[in-house]
Parts: sequence; C-alpha cells; structure tokens
Amino acid sequence: MKKKKRRLKRKLFLLIIFLLVIGVLIGCYFFFKTDRVSFDFSFLSQSLEDTEEKIASEETKQKEEEEKKKLEEEAAKDNGYGVEIPGPTYIKGILIVNKTYALPDGYATGNDPTALSALRELQAGASSAGYSIPLLSGFRSHQKQTELYNRYVARDGKDAADTYSARPGHSEHETGLTFDIGAVDDNYGETPAGKWLASHAHEYGFIIRYPKGKEDITKYQYEPWHVRYVGVEHATNMYENDLTLEEYLGIA
Ligand code: DAL
Ligand code: ZN
Repeated sequence: MKKKKRRLKRKLFLLIIFLLVIGVLIGCYFFFKTDRVSFDFSFLSQSLEDTEEKIASEETKQKEEEEKKKLEEEAAKDNGYGVEIPGPTYIKGILIVNKTYALPDGYATGNDPTALSALRELQAGASSAGYSIPLLSGFRSHQKQTELYNRYVARDGKDAADTYSARPGHSEHETGLTFDIGAVDDNYGETPAGKWLASHAHEYGFIIRYPKGKEDITKYQYEPWHVRYVGVEHATNMYENDLTLEEYLGIA
C-alpha cells in the first residue's frame, strides 16, 4: 500500500514537472511572438552580411592586386615593352604614349599648332628671364623614329637604346605635342636655363616628361630637355604634386 502511494506520488511529481515544462515553452512562445515585447535579432544576420561583404571585397581587392602585379610583370618584360595597348589612347582627355600605349603610324603629320604656339610663348618667357631655349626636335614621323631608334641600337645595343630612345609607334614625338628643347645633355637640368625650364614649363602647359628619380615609372632615363604639352591646368597639377604623366593618369 505504502509502495503504491509512493509510486503515485512520483507519477504526480513527474506530471507536474512535465506540465511546468510545457507551460514554460508555451509562455516563451507567446512572449517572443507578441509585438509588445519583440526582440530584434536582425543585427545577427546584419553583422553576418557585413562580414560576408567584407570578405568578398577583400577577395576582390586581392584578386585585383594579383592581376595588377601579373600585368606589371608582363609589362616589365622586353625592357618595358611586354604589354602593348594599341592607340591612340586618351585618359582624362590626355593622349598617352609610352612603352605600353602605342600610337598608329600616321597619327600626326606635324607639330600640333596649340603646342607649338605654347612653346613659342615659353621661349619668349625664357628670353625675358635672360635664357635662350632653342627648339631642337619636335614632330617625328614613324619612319624618322624608326631610323633614329635603329641607329641608336646599332651604336649602343638594344638594352641601352631602350633606356633613352622610344621604339617606333611608342615615341611622344610622333604625337606632335612634344619637343626637345634647350640642349640634349644629361646635365641640362643643372644649368640656369634648364632650372628655369623645370620650374616654369607648367605655366605654359608643358611637363618635363621623364623626370629624375621617376625612371621606374616612365621607363626612361632622366631627360631634362624633353617637354610634353598637356595644357596649363594638367601641367600645373602634375608640377605641384610632383607627378609623372603615368601617375597622374593612374596607370603607373
Ligand atoms: N627620347 C624619347 C624617349 C623618345 O625617343 O621619344
Ligand atoms: Zn624627346
């Protein structure tokens, strides 16, 4: 009899526990379901989305960097001529010609009139300051550039020639926007006239196209005599920020 009573008690106890658990579960259900007390767990999924987005953008960035590096390695081949992009190519409205960006034969037929008149003003400015900056070489045809480059290769070898002479189709002289002025001399930048040119060329719309210390970017040795016309605004911007054309155009 006593045993039976104890069993009954235990059953009753288990039933109460069971009912309590059910009650708590139902309570929880309604507690979270009501609008009155609603918990916003969206931050969990939001932060998950943010993390996924961050990972994706890091992966994209890494991929872009790898592609850029690959392209740079390709371009570095053959003395900087590893990658060729046929032109004419304009970036920010500026014609770009270098070892990568080529120009078709016959793109120009002579000096650009705007660039030439800007050069005349520069020469007049130099003259007023007491310097003579003669024009030595302006527009060169594809044919002329071919002859010049081949002559340098025969004299110094291809590797050396590629540091100071552009291959045909890659010379800025074929644009009609470029001039060699003053003196074709490595020390010209140290002369009073060369110094005046370096600090005033931008006022007339010109840049020293191959500056000292930027050889890795331009892929040419320092040429204090080679100026390229880009217009006063761009030239001043590059001069004030110490940028080569490649850096300014975001292709360095
Ligand atoms: N001297 C420059 C690089 C040219 O040949 O165009
Ligand atoms: Zn030149």
